[in-house]
Amino acid sequence: MTGTREVTPDRFRDVMRHVPTGVAVVSALGPDGPAGLAVGSFVSVSLDPPLVGFFVARTSTTWPRIEPIGRFCVNVLGEDGEHVSRAFAVSGGDKFAGVGWRRSPMGSPVLDGALAWFDCTLHSVSQAGDHVFVLASVHDLSVRPAGRPLIFCHGTYQRLGSRPGPRT
Ligand SMILES: Cc1cc2nc3c(=O)[nH]c(=O)nc-3n(C[C@H](O)[C@H](O)[C@H](O)COP(=O)(O)O)c2cc1C
Repeated sequence: MTGTREVTPDRFRDVMRHVPTGVAVVSALGPDGPAGLAVGSFVSVSLDPPLVGFFVARTSTTWPRIEPIGRFCVNVLGEDGEHVSRAFAVSGGDKFAGVGWRRSPMGSPVLDGALAWFDCTLHSVSQAGDHVFVLASVHDLSVRPAGRPLIFCHGTYQRLGSRPGPRT
């Protein structure tokens, strides 16, 4: 007899941990200072108009601070950014302590050493199970062309290894 096995959270996690992602920090500047969280779900959505997206857990304490600001930067971390990811993947505390940043053209924090950054405004937020899907309009963007991305896979931070750097 054929049948499907229940997709429990443990099975889901056990399979998804084999799927590599980049690592990005979503950062915003509000009246009470900068706020940010690490996401592995950053994705390009649309070229025309330029849209990007990411998923945020409904338990996030930082997203409710960023959403009303309505603008933020998505900072894609380079391979030397593991300590930055760790700082922004915790709940609470001063995540920006020891992390340098400057303002983007729209005033959001661009983290020092980011491989790429996207200056965004909030387009829409939709429900997605125990997460929300955040869709954002891109107003400016930049990259360190010779840089390499930080990768997260198998529960650990990884680098691209022997692959040659990108052609610039
Ligand atoms: C590599 C990596 C990827 C992550 N990706 C996401 C993500 O896509 N969405 C999310 O909500 N949390 C993600 N997290 C967890 C959040 O960074 C973490 O739960 C968050 O910072 C909690 O803090 P907050 O309560 O300040 O929002 C990720 C963590 C790591 C280490």
